[in-house]
Parts: sequence; C-alpha cells; structure tokens
Amino acid sequence: MLDIAFAKPALPKSGALVVLVGEGDKPSGLWQQADEATGGAISRALEAAEFKGGKGKSCTVLAPGGGLSRVVAVGLGKREDLSARTLQAAGGTAAAALSRDGTAAVAADGLTPAQAADFALGAVLRSYRFDRYRTKEKPEDKPKLSALTVLAADTDAAQAAWEPRRGIARGSYLTRDLVSEPPNVLNPAEMADRCRELSKLGVDVNVLGPDEMKKLGFGALLGVAQGSVNEPRMVVMRWDGAGGSTKPVAFIGKGVTFDTGGISIKPAGGMEDMKWDMAGAGTVIGLMAALAERKAKVDAVGLVGLVENMPSGNAQRPGDVVKTYSGQTIEVINTDAEGRLVLADVLWYCQEKFDPQFMIDLATLTGAIIISLGHEHAGLFCNDDKLAAKLEAAGKDTGERVWRMPLDEEYDKQIKSDIADMKNVGGRPGGSITAAQLLQRFTNGKPWAHLDIAGVAWATKDSAVTPKGATAFGVRLLDRLVAEHYEAK
Ligand code: BES
Ligand code: MN
Ligand code: ZN
Repeated sequence: MLDIAFAKPALPKSGALVVLVGEGDKPSGLWQQADEATGGAISRALEAAEFKGGKGKSCTVLAPGGGLSRVVAVGLGKREDLSARTLQAAGGTAAAALSRDGTAAVAADGLTPAQAADFALGAVLRSYRFDRYRTKEKPEDKPKLSALTVLAADTDAAQAAWEPRRGIARGSYLTRDLVSEPPNVLNPAEMADRCRELSKLGVDVNVLGPDEMKKLGFGALLGVAQGSVNEPRMVVMRWDGAGGSTKPVAFIGKGVTFDTGGISIKPAGGMEDMKWDMAGAGTVIGLMAALAERKAKVDAVGLVGLVENMPSGNAQRPGDVVKTYSGQTIEVINTDAEGRLVLADVLWYCQEKFDPQFMIDLATLTGAIIISLGHEHAGLFCNDDKLAAKLEAAGKDTGERVWRMPLDEEYDKQIKSDIADMKNVGGRPGGSITAAQLLQRFTNGKPWAHLDIAGVAWATKDSAVTPKGATAFGVRLLDRLVAEHYEAK
C-alpha cells in the first residue's frame, strides 16, 4: 500500500509535486513558490492547457525546472462546496498521474487536516493493484509510486485524521484482494482461512464447516454446496469495539466463490466473471477489518456464507425442495438463483443468535439489478425507512451510492410454489425485487437492508478512486453509516 507521511510545508528541491487548485485560485503558498522557482513555467503551462481548476480536471507539467521532475495540478472545483468525495477524487486523479514517480509531495496548503487526509485516502485507493500472479512484467511497466508526503501546516492533526482512513484503505485493499483472487485459489476453505487472519486485529473469528451446518439444519446453503468437492463454510466475525455488551450491528455477505449456475448452468461467455460472486462476503470481511483497524467503538458482527455452485453428479436439481434453518421450505426451480438460498440460512442464524440492531446483507444477487440501475448505484431494499435514509445519506457522502427499490407483498405471488412454502425464482419481471422478497422472509421482521451489488462490485474502467477491477463497494459506505450513527462518541 502507498505509504502516507505528513510534513511541514517546504518546497521540495527535486521529485514530483502536486498542487491543488480551486476554480478562480491565484498562485499562493507552495504553488506560488514552485512557480517562482521554475521561472513561471507552471503558470505558463497551466495557461496553455487552459487549466482553470475545474473539478475532475488535471494538468501535468513535465520537468518545469527548479529540480522538479513533474508538477501535477489537480482541480478541486469551487472551494465553497469542497466535499470529502471531491478531495478523495482529487487524490485518486493525482495518484494516477504520478504512477511514473517513486515518491511525490502534495502541497496541502489551505486544506483542513480532514481534507488533507481525504486526499491521501483517494490516492491510496486509486493506486491499488493486484499483481500477485504477474511474473513477467518489466520493471518499467510497473507503476512506481510508493510514497506520498502530504505537506500540511498541522502535521499532527493531519496524521490523526489519517489514522482511521488508513483503516478504511486497508479494509478496502483486503476486499479487493479477495475479490480479485482466482476461483481455483479462493475456494470456501481458503476464504475462511483469510477470515481467520482478522484475529490478529482483535476480531473474534469462528468458522463452521459442513458437519456443524448439517447439525444446525442449513438445508438451503448446503443444497447449493453439495455439487462441489470444495466444502462450504460459514464464518462469524465479531468486533466488540463497544465492549460487547450492546446489541450489535450485523453485516451478512453472499460468498459464492464461483457461480457456474449449477445444473441450470450459465453460458460460457463471461462466466469467468463469476469468480467475484463472493464480493458481498469480501466486503463484509474488509469492513470488519476496517472497523477493527480503526478501533471503531461499536459492537459489530460479520457473517459470510461461503460456497461454490457447481454442476456434478451430486449437485442439486431443479425441482429439489430444501428445508431452511428457519424451518421454511423452498422449491429450487433454478439452481442459478443460489445466492438467496445461501443468505436465507445465514440471515436467520444471524437474527436468532445476535438479535442485532439491524442486519445489512450485501450480495451480487441478480443480473436484473444491472438492467435496472446500471453500474452507478447499488440496489437498496429495506424494511425500515430510517435505516434506508441513513444508507442513502452515507452513499451521497462517500460516493458509494444506493438507490432504493420497492418491497411489496404483491410480488409474493410470483414466488408461490405448488408444493413448498416458496420457490426460489419469480420469473423475469422485477427479478431483483422478487429475490429481495424471498430474503425478507428470513429476517423475522428485524430492521434489515439488502444491497444488491451485482452492478457495482467490479468495474471494467478506471474511475477516480477505483482502478478497474474489484471496487470494494460497501466498505466506505458502511463504515460511514457506522461512524455517523452507531458508534459511541
Ligand atoms: N451471481 C448471479 C448474479 C449476477 C449476474 C451477478 C451477473 C453479477 C453479474 C446470481 O447468482 C444469478 O445467477 N442470478 C440469476 C437469477 C435468475 C436465475 C433468477 C440471474 O440474475 O440471472
Ligand atoms: Mn447464480
Ligand atoms: Zn450467484
């Protein structure tokens, strides 16, 4: 991970320098000093590029003189409406422009300590790279940026503001690593082992295998798992940051380490994407790591259902009826609608065992949510208006946006079964909604939100704070929800 340090403002004599420019700003502070040291080269370059500090804009000046290898001007837009999101995006833009430099300094004059730290967070998030399996990359093709020094007047305050954000960055990196791993490596047992590593951070980790889940009666989760030689796991992670005596908040993740569809097999084209069908679980794990890293004063539990959905001689069939841990039965019409089967058992277990303040599940649950919302919002389904409003606000703040979708019992007729309590698919109309209606039956009426992250867990293009690939969507959103509303202050 990119190293972040804070130092007093002083013009660097060499290397790269980032200056942050608001719309209408005149050179001042380090920006002005750098301009003078380079005989006005920076001003001339920004002028020629018609760079005016617009939000999302940047301009790189190569070898301007004064010993500097590069000056990157990053636009902040209007200073009046400078949000955390804008600062993070600016950090991301800068990191992308600096990939050829080993180290760089950032002139943070005029920023508050929190704003300087948000810039650093954006830079760290954008410079993520998964290169564990590249053995032949030429050194000159590798991004070089390894350390960023943020030049700020109050270094102690900026460092203090950075600490919790470093926790969020580490959690997001963990999520992205998990989601990026190939499915031959990251099977349910391996994923449970990665969860166990959270115990180093003070998280209590408990792993259940197939025998324990059989005893409990997890018929729905086990039905999905039965076609694979890779055994399922359920992992329960507890972070007792408020002492463990309060009702916890609870996060539940779909962890299908590979989704072939099972006997209702998916077409070959693009099936490799289904390695990231465990992104919900990956986010829950990264979130628990982030909460522990920043020592959040909250009691939180994270539960993940880990299975592989495979076709085989022992796989579940369309037409099978499974008995869930809640006692309700489900007719499995389509073995590719497996996420809801996994979550049904984990949700019921969670509410029964922990009686949480709320449950939020995350799942790459339906292709239909991509048709509804594209890649800009996750689908939010919620039985509690207050919780929904908090999630919507946290989404706007962090840029991990959610869009509320309906829950309504009229949809229940689509999942009526002729022989069981329900069937696992409700046809094409409102496919994400009928999936959520099914999940709701396993919440026992507790405050609950379901985030369908199928459209946002993986990006095919770079954006401000996420390089293409695994996004870790939900880590920042849910960390913010907890920090704003559920943490002892
Ligand atoms: N994991 C998929 C959903 C998915 C699709 C995620 C595309 C990301 C990209 C899920 O298990 C699934 O297969 N859902 C089916 C449900 C259908 C059979 C009712 C779908 O969306 O097609
Ligand atoms: Mn599926
Ligand atoms: Zn799936």
